[in-house]
Amino acid sequence: MSRIVLGVAGGIAAYKACDLLRRLLAEGHDVTVVPTPAALEFVGAATWAALSGRPVHTQVWDDVHQVPHVALGQSADLVLVAPATADLLARAASGRADDLLTNVLLTASAPVVLAPAMHTEMWQHAATQDNVATLRRRGVVVLDPATGRLTGADSGPGRLPEPAELLAVAMSVLADPTIATRAARRDLVGLRVLVTAGGTRESLDPVRFLGNASSGRMGWALARSAALRGAVVHLVAAHVESDPPPGVSVTTVGSTAELAAAVAAAAAGQDVVVMAAAPADYTPVKIADTKIKKSAGQGLTLSLRETPDVLAGLVAARTDPRQVLVGFAAETGGGAQTPLALGRDKLARKGCDLLVLNEVGIDRVFGRPDSEITLLTRDGEDGPVAGSKDVLAHRIWDAALALRTPR
Ligand code: CTP
Repeated sequence: MSRIVLGVAGGIAAYKACDLLRRLLAEGHDVTVVPTPAALEFVGAATWAALSGRPVHTQVWDDVHQVPHVALGQSADLVLVAPATADLLARAASGRADDLLTNVLLTASAPVVLAPAMHTEMWQHAATQDNVATLRRRGVVVLDPATGRLTGADSGPGRLPEPAELLAVAMSVLADPTIATRAARRDLVGLRVLVTAGGTRESLDPVRFLGNASSGRMGWALARSAALRGAVVHLVAAHVESDPPPGVSVTTVGSTAELAAAVAAAAAGQDVVVMAAAPADYTPVKIADTKIKKSAGQGLTLSLRETPDVLAGLVAARTDPRQVLVGFAAETGGGAQTPLALGRDKLARKGCDLLVLNEVGIDRVFGRPDSEITLLTRDGEDGPVAGSKDVLAHRIWDAALALRTPR
């Protein structure tokens, strides 16, 4: 259990922080909500107190004997502010201490994550952008806002990312505080990355398909973590229900052939391509025009052909020698070969630069929040390392980045 201060500044997105609070509590954390006085115009103190089960204060003058303006910041394992308004960013950047939340920000030694939400004009204003740069330079993680519908009829960058996204970032920073350092430094700025995610489906007839159990969670974690560190991220996603992380563009595909076409179209100019998708290896030779009928006792024999190997295609088409190509291998082991030996074979066979190996079986890896991976390169291996998919995604970007340093 970690101690989290959830700061809430005065913007309409404060209502989304109620959902975020519930999710943080559901993870088993001890959460103290510190709204600004303006935040209480949107969501009242009674709501925060009832949801968190703790008293809620906005000023340093409450419970003075407990010195909350120092104690809260000092004892926190994470300070997360959602939404962070333009005013809150300005006050934090200039080191003001005019309410309890800004006092907490000045006394916190743990990672600080700010999730801005405001109108597009306010976000893009030079004053706000300077404040964001100042805060990042000081080691504060300032997320990019999502793009979409704002208050009223307006639309553009400035939306608070969805609570599930904020939770994923918060949990990764709690699990590995060094992620906050890399996110604040934006060490992937200038990189263009392509990530594939999900599992492709090959149609058998108008209502049936061959598919697999990939949830897309690893691809989402890769996209989220690269965007957090400043990369320009494009996702090619097959059958993943969730909205993409903020700032990430998406092409949706169905079959392996569509995935191959989308990747081929987007690959040129990418600095790193990560094939986290699970493409179906076989597709029916022919898709039935009408629903395949059951013929009693006859069984059904399918005639399948191999799909294109997208990763091998990328290796063959690569023109930029610095482009880093990353593959995944989900291995169950089998026969005389260990998963590691199968991974080494696959790295050599596919010709990619980095292979992320995970051992799978029924109930392992697919659809689960945690995983265990070993990173294989031609020069050696790192792992196994265990952790949430977000934490592991950061390790994968670190390894990819290391491969881009001049060889
Ligand atoms: N892959 C791909 N195109 C395919 C199948 C897989 O690009 N048609 C990619 C996957 O996204 C993954 C890597 O290749 O990054 C390894 O996938 P895997 O299914 O383990 O490899 P296969 O070549 O299908 O080998 P296996 O015989 O073990 O299934």
